[in-house]
Order: sequence, then C-alpha cells, then structure tokens
Amino acid sequence: MAFIPLLIGLSCLLVLRYLWYTWVHARKAQSWGCASLPSYPTDLIGLNTLKEALRADKEGTIPLMLQRRVEELSIREKRRVATFRIRQMGRENIFTCDPANIQAMLATKFKDFELGSLRQFTLHPMLGTGIFTSDGEAWARSRALLRPQFTREQISDLDLEEVHLQQAMRALPVDPVTRWTGETNIQAILFQALRNGGELPPDHFSGYFDRGQWYVSQRARFEKLHWLVDNKESRYVNDKVHAYVDQFVNKALQMSAEDKPASSHYVFLEALVAVTRDPIELRSQLLNILLAGRDTTASLLTWSILMLARHPAVFQKLRSTILADFGPYTPNHDSITFAALKSCRYLQYFMNEILRLYPSVPINRRIAANDTSLPQGGGPDGKSPIYLRTGQAVYYSVFVAQRQKELFGEDAEVFNPDRWFDRRVGWEYLPFNGGPRVCLGQQFALTEAGYVLVRLLQRFDAIEDVYPEKDIKYTLTLTLTPKDPVTVRLHEAAAVSAT
Ligand code: HEM
Repeated sequence: MAFIPLLIGLSCLLVLRYLWYTWVHARKAQSWGCASLPSYPTDLIGLNTLKEALRADKEGTIPLMLQRRVEELSIREKRRVATFRIRQMGRENIFTCDPANIQAMLATKFKDFELGSLRQFTLHPMLGTGIFTSDGEAWARSRALLRPQFTREQISDLDLEEVHLQQAMRALPVDPVTRWTGETNIQAILFQALRNGGELPPDHFSGYFDRGQWYVSQRARFEKLHWLVDNKESRYVNDKVHAYVDQFVNKALQMSAEDKPASSHYVFLEALVAVTRDPIELRSQLLNILLAGRDTTASLLTWSILMLARHPAVFQKLRSTILADFGPYTPNHDSITFAALKSCRYLQYFMNEILRLYPSVPINRRIAANDTSLPQGGGPDGKSPIYLRTGQAVYYSVFVAQRQKELFGEDAEVFNPDRWFDRRVGWEYLPFNGGPRVCLGQQFALTEAGYVLVRLLQRFDAIEDVYPEKDIKYTLTLTLTPKDPVTVRLHEAAAVSAT
C-alpha cells in the first residue's frame, strides 16, 4: 500500500508545479501589461463546439458560424469582440479577426509563431514535408527552392494557359441557333482539367485529392483526437495520391538520369529535379504546390462566375472594360499580357472583391513558438495586449475580418467591386496572407484567373444563374468553395461566331 502515499505525493507535486507555472505566467503577463480575454461558452472539453462545427459543416455554414460567434460575444460583452478563447476537443484555441493581431502573428512577431504540430498531424500524412508543413530551416529551404519558380517570365507565359482554357471551352458548347450553352456546373469544369470536355473516371486522382483534403480538415476539427479520423480509407486515399504523383517524379528522374533534353517550355518538375533528386522530397514539393495553386485559383474563379451570374450590372461593366482593353474574342490572345492584365483596373477590383467576400483560405492557424503576446483583445475594452504561453494555438479568419463593418463600412456584406477605387490595402485585407510567409503564387494566381476571366467575357455576353434564389452555402476543406454546384448558362457573343 506504499503506492498510495506515493500517489498523493506525486499529485501534490503536479498541483504545485501547476500553481508555480500559473504564477510565473501571470507575473509575466502582468509585467507585459496583458489582460484576460472573453471565452466562448462551451463544456469542459469543448465537445459542444465540435458538434457545432460538424453541424455547420453539414449545413454548409462554417464561415457564417464563425461570424455568428463574434456577434454573439459582442452582444454578451456589450462591445466589439474580435478576439476570444474557444475550447474544442480538449484544445484551448484563441480566435481572432483583429487585423492588429493578425499582423503581429504574420509579420511583426513572425519569429514568435509557427505552424508547428498542428500542420504535422493534419497535412503531413497527405502532403509530406514541404512548404505548408514546415517551419524554420526546413521552411526556408522549401521557400528558397520554390521562389525561383515564380519569376515574372515564368508567370507571364500565357500560351499554356490558353491550351487549358481551350480545353475548358470545349466543355461549354453552344446551341448554334440560340447561342446559349446548356445548364453547366462551372465549378466542376474549373476544378478538373477536363480532357476534351469529357467526364472524369470515378477513381481519378482529383477525386482522391479532394477526399484527402476532406480528411485533412476533419483531423483539424478533431484536434487532439485527430487519430480518430485516421482510418483505412484515409490511408488508401493518401496512397493513391502518392502513387499518382510518383509516376511523374520517377519519369522526370529517369529522363534527367538519361540526360534527355528538358522540354522546350518551362516545366516546374524539371526545374525541381535540377535542384533535388530525392523522390520523396520531389513528391512532397509537387503536392504542396498543387494544393497551393489548384483549389485556391479554381475557388476564386468559381466564386467569380457565381457573382457575375448574380450581378448583371457588374458583369456588363467588367465585360465592356475587357472589350475596351483587349478587344473581342479571337484566336489571337497576344494582347492579354501580364502587364495588361495588371493595369486593367476594374478587373483587379473585381478579383479583390471576390477574394474579400470569398477568400480561398478563409481560416488559418498559428502556434506560439515561445511565450509571447498579441497587441489587442484583453481587458474590459479589448484594447489591452493578451498573453500567450508557448504552444498556444491562435485561429485567424480573414473571412470574418474582411466582412467587418468597422473595417469595410455598413455595406461590408455587399458585393461591390467599386469599393476598391482608390482604396489602400492594409492588414484588414489579407487573402494572400502577409509577412515572410506571404503567398508565393499571388501574381501567378491573379494572372491566371484574370486571363481566364478575360477570355470567358470576350466569348460570352451574358451569364444566367440557373438557381438564382438559392442561398449560398459553403464547403470548407482547406479552401472555400460553394457547396452546391454553380449551375449557369452562358450566351455566346455574336462576334465570336463570325471568328
Ligand atoms: C487565388 C489564389 C490564391 C490564394 C487566395 C492564395 C492564398 C494563400 C494563403 C492564404 C497562403 C498562406 C497559407 C498558409 O498559412 O500556409 C498561401 C501560401 C502559399 N501560396 Fe498561395 N494562394 C493562391 C494561389 C497560389 C498559387 C497559384 C500558387 C502557386 C502555384 C501559390 C503558392 C503558395 C505557396 C508556395 C505558399 C506558401 C508560402 C509559405 O508558407 O512560405 N498560391 N497562399
């Protein structure tokens, strides 16, 4: 029975240790002028918040749930609450949509924050070690490896873009008499590189990649119990994704071993093989960049088409701007250059506004790498700094930040590209992230998406939303997309038939 006093002794030690650290941190917080912040109501382990998130996921309302939490706490505290604590499945997170806190995490206090273990348990099983799953040296290596792939010449090469665009156009045939397309789910076309406008087989890579991403977000929701979501299917999906990419990696390695000449145009994988020959690293870097580039840009384009279909005046304004700058639809696309797209101001305002209301990455998270603080959210008025212990996870949502009336005016929820006229962009608008980990593909993405929009609006002079009365629902895996198919009909301009 000697173990009973031992147990009591150990428990006392643990309690003392807990009290000691609580005191140490409280002193540090006080000396830094930090104050406490509100907590979102839930149970002891945060099962209710998980249930709330799973329900919202099913209903397609996750981003709206985030906004609602901010509103509910603001009413309870009788002030604007932009930063609060929230417990989910045993983890105490901080949530913020305060630009000052986001700026601190991403830029001014960059060294105090990392992606840490959260990215490891969520993304690593599918993506391996790459730019989205690493910090410190490993991250710097990935960034240095990838950065040269985004030079202005490489992202200005729009010939390949035209080839893919023509493939997508083949999926949009028009009736020769009415010149209307049939009812088309544009989302499917934009997310999948359809071959000759055909359907994809069910066990296609993109299906596995989507399913793998769903597992990634489920692991994030289950927090400390993420292993519950790891099952036979999730492992099967990852194996399929890896096997598919490995084919290309092996081929590229073989070609370079045999000293076969590289392609005449720029190929990302060939450029990587010149720097590393490790097949696992190559696979991981490819998957990381695919994740970065595919769904984010497709999401921007999908929301763009939906908004154009729902806002005919914006459609007409954008189309006349495009025709004035680039002329009507012809096989020759030489005038649509990187520089010309950038200086087409209304096109840029339009994409800004899409990414404000429908940011491709609406929520993100960082972990405190050491004891630190964020500038706002504490005390009765929320203006005092808040204290973060090492390991504290902080969610930040640009979806919520970019819809705040305090930052974007009373009409913050209204889709209005004109609001960008002469507006300077600060930390309240962050669709591409900021600081040292700012999106590497920002210019590439805006060039790609701008190009597709120009070509589509050159060819079509009207877009009709087949279900205009339907409420917008959201799917949130890693990126934000409309939950329902975006079913539209497009009308081909008379000039096109003549070309
Ligand atoms: C509309 C399109 C896009 C949006 C809204 C977007 C947004 C973002 C955001 C929010 C991040 C930060 C993610 C994080 O915290 O880990 C990010 C990172 C990144 N993006 Fe993009 N992105 C887009 C397109 C692209 C494209 C087309 C590429 C490349 C082909 C790309 C490459 C990257 C890379 C490499 C990073 C990691 C940067 C780092 O951690 O150092 N992005 N992007």
